[in-house]
Amino acid sequence: MDLTDGSVPRRDVLKTAVALGGAGALAACLGEADRNREPAPTGDPGAKPARQHAWNDAVRTDEHGNTLLPNHQVLLYVTLDEDGPPTTEDRRAVEAALSTLDRAYEWGNEGLVHSVAYSRAYFDRFETALPDNLELPRPRALSAFEDPTFDTQDAVLHLASDRADVVLEAEEALTGDRQTANGEEVATPLTEVVTVDSRRTGFVGAGLPAERQDAAGIPDGEPVPEASPLFMGFEAGFRGNQATEDYVTVETGPMAGGTTKVVSNIRQRLGDWYDEQTHDQRVTELFSPGHTEAGLVEGVGSNLGANSEVDRFVDDTLADAREHGRVGHAQKAARANRDSEGNVRLLRRHFESTDDIGSDQQVASLHFPSLQRHVGEFEAVRRAMNGADVTEATPAVRQRVNNGILEYIFVRRRGYFLVPPRRHRALPRPRPEG
Ligand code: HEM
Repeated sequence: MDLTDGSVPRRDVLKTAVALGGAGALAACLGEADRNREPAPTGDPGAKPARQHAWNDAVRTDEHGNTLLPNHQVLLYVTLDEDGPPTTEDRRAVEAALSTLDRAYEWGNEGLVHSVAYSRAYFDRFETALPDNLELPRPRALSAFEDPTFDTQDAVLHLASDRADVVLEAEEALTGDRQTANGEEVATPLTEVVTVDSRRTGFVGAGLPAERQDAAGIPDGEPVPEASPLFMGFEAGFRGNQATEDYVTVETGPMAGGTTKVVSNIRQRLGDWYDEQTHDQRVTELFSPGHTEAGLVEGVGSNLGANSEVDRFVDDTLADAREHGRVGHAQKAARANRDSEGNVRLLRRHFESTDDIGSDQQVASLHFPSLQRHVGEFEAVRRAMNGADVTEATPAVRQRVNNGILEYIFVRRRGYFLVPPRRHRALPRPRPEG
């Protein structure tokens, strides 16, 4: 399959390659010219940050200082081949596999940013418990109206780059499908000790959702604006509405420098979102009725700059429900997303997808990784977003109707993980030394 005869734009070829994945996807999809493309910037293992989740300083920002997450991303859910606690040899193999990526790529959007995170099921392999300051529950349903499948694989690898070819090459290095990565020898693939249970792919950034809107869940007529980084047609992740990397970092104990990561997969059904709603109604449901009244959101919302301004409307949530019969998603979620000093608690890093996990269909979905110091903070925000109290305030707002964006999004998967600091990233014990 040589897709590079000029009939398909190069960008599309690479996106197809990321979505297809698997053995040799890159080689299969790229022509000779692409295989001889410019190499990615190479890495200096000594220059990698101590925190695996330290991505913000290494990727692009927009003119307002908002982080622009890398355009192409892959999540690999893996399980150790052997039962019981991993051995020193297993640990060496994982460290060797990850070190290959460190040598091969610069830490950044032109190279690669990555992390590995471990589940409660993984830590249950050991007799020792995690330190007391670390709470890593098993994933659970967080509302009466969702029934997700839980991801309880041992670990999830997250690879991200603005270059689709880099993400794919890095993945193939981990899975043993290539001998070199960006010129670096791949001595030990990760799959020497683990098996990939589930592979999920995605993209984010202006233009990409518009190009990929031919998917189930998006109505006809190409409604997704070219300028939108997400399928729902608005920007998200303003600097002022995101936790800092420092804030979400575990500060003490053997896992100091780590964080917790909740990863959900959410199916989107945007028929009524686009066909039945005006731009103002979409602003009301995604931000708040106050945003619409004050005319705060133009187009996809770039004019908001570095802050969604939602704090102005958080205390109005119940009054808005009674007066307007609708409440906003951001407004509801923000109610639980501030600590007592007003700091934002979650660092959301969501990206779009057309994966339909377990089938070949193209469906609009969202991979939603969220970083926070304690998983309980995510759970509290998600419950605030459910708005059970809002449904009690007025019959106009129901579980899934007029209740932010709950009419359009359906959680299908959820997993809870711990992202250890880099020094303990290879199959850590619950209480590693040093
Ligand atoms: C398709 C799904 C979703 C879309 C398109 C979406 C989009 C947005 C947008 C546009 C905003 C306002 C701008 C911003 O601050 O980023 C926002 C805010 C927010 N969303 Fe979502 N969101 C989605 C799902 C979720 C889920 C599942 C959660 C889970 C907890 C969540 C939590 C939040 C939080 C915490 C805020 C920030 C509110 C604050 O300022 O504190 N979102 N979202």
